Amino acid sequence: MAMAMMNLSVKMSSTSSSSSSISPASTSSPAPTPVNLPVRTIPGSYGLPLIGPISDRLDYFWFQGPETFFKKRMEQHKSSVFRTNVPPTFPFFVGVNPNMVAVLDCKSFSHLFDMDLVEKKNVLIGDFMPSVSFTGNIRVGVYLDTSEPQHSQVKSFAADILKRSSSVWVSELLSNLDIMWGTIEKDVSANKSSAFLVPLQKSIFRFLTKSLFGADPASSPEIGDNGYVMLDKWLALQLLPTQKIGILQPLEEIFLHSFAYPFALVSGDYNKLYEFVKKEGKETVQRGMTEFGLSQDETIHNLLFILGFNAFGGFSVFLPSLLNNLGSDKTGLQEKLRKEVKEKSGSSPLSFNSVKEMELVKSFVYESLRFSPPVPFQYARARKDFVLSSYDSAFQIKKGELLCGYQPLVMRDPTVFDNPDTFVPDRFTKEKGQELLNYLYWSNGPQTGSPSTSNKQCSAKDVVVLTACLLVADLLLRYDSFSASSGSITAIEKAK
Ligand code: HEM
Repeated sequence: MAMAMMNLSVKMSSTSSSSSSISPASTSSPAPTPVNLPVRTIPGSYGLPLIGPISDRLDYFWFQGPETFFKKRMEQHKSSVFRTNVPPTFPFFVGVNPNMVAVLDCKSFSHLFDMDLVEKKNVLIGDFMPSVSFTGNIRVGVYLDTSEPQHSQVKSFAADILKRSSSVWVSELLSNLDIMWGTIEKDVSANKSSAFLVPLQKSIFRFLTKSLFGADPASSPEIGDNGYVMLDKWLALQLLPTQKIGILQPLEEIFLHSFAYPFALVSGDYNKLYEFVKKEGKETVQRGMTEFGLSQDETIHNLLFILGFNAFGGFSVFLPSLLNNLGSDKTGLQEKLRKEVKEKSGSSPLSFNSVKEMELVKSFVYESLRFSPPVPFQYARARKDFVLSSYDSAFQIKKGELLCGYQPLVMRDPTVFDNPDTFVPDRFTKEKGQELLNYLYWSNGPQTGSPSTSNKQCSAKDVVVLTACLLVADLLLRYDSFSASSGSITAIEKAK
């Protein structure tokens, strides 16, 4: 580890004008200014028109899958920065330009956070943007660049929602987890295993609607029973063109990656969710209008996006991977974590403050975010011509070019992380672990950074980590042992 950090600082200082300006991730404008690096032509090409994009598309979705796709090209070009096509693409995504510059190491990736160099308008999932009809014909906050005044309004509103929700966040989370574990326990005793995604999503949905805007799904039986499925479908239709599902090819290519599905398929459900937020979350909606200057429609569609895409979508990916990591460990990790949880929580109920003290639990959560970043892609478009640097080379980027960062590889950058392909639960403990947080990028910014109206870092960067810590701590206090793999809980033993 020490060697890795030393290598990093050596490499950083040899590539920049002053060592204080180069830490790639420790400030809000972290991109280093290259001085002595050789400027290289960006390797790779987009291939012949139509043929290049379609061949890359087939590799990406069919023959290789995203991880191998990027790894192979990185090896082939001997560079963590290269040109490639990233789908969706030909034949029916006509207006979508798949040409991108991939940035696959921590240093080059950190340029994506420098809002002087890049803009984030409409690039949440690449050059392809799902139809705005999915969000009430409004470009919601995540699609807005920091230069657009509305970004500040929506981001400040999101910060306000999170601040206000903090008084009920923990109690709502824990009471809904209680319901989830009840269902899972019954399942395990009846069937010897329990697929946990559905009970988990039901609990997350209830906990989020209650915490974020005080709306109780129980007040509307249809939303209470099916709200989470409505969000799943709405999310799936927007993301399908960009996702490898793994079903029989060429069916996946023909039916899922060749065209965008219309909003009409989920409009009925979306309208019900809209009415639910309008009625049950009326105080929050009112605040969006009076305190943040948003119209009623802008407030509700943004709230729905924060609830459904950011929060529900994010937790639905992240929490299952956390449970799988914990439940499949065979190294005695659960025991060590449980000891820390018991020591730090004592006889008091769990709280944000108590989990903040749990160094190993936090490190386990951070390592889970490093090992499988829940949002694998970040994109940004060059605001102007600039020179982008990786560790040993610099590259000329032209205004308008799209940069594509694939986090699963960036978070295994061997210059920064020792044994990058190994899950090391205590990686983020002690002083060196704290230093490494500068390079943990899951929230579209370093874990040491702060979300603000002048950047695009996740508003819930800290609360996501604390929520995951609470889930882990609660679970370890409930059960003396717990086994899980591939989305199923296979054994649990209640705490004695
Ligand atoms: C595990 C859960 C979550 C993950 C993995 C996650 C991840 C992210 C990422 C990667 C981005 C940046 C997207 C981009 O522009 O490229 C983002 C943005 C954002 N997230 Fe989260 N998020 C999570 C939970 C939440 C929650 C609970 C909230 C709010 C309650 C939230 C609110 C936001 C907002 C408002 C933005 C837009 C920031 C901006 O436009 O400046 N997120 N999130």
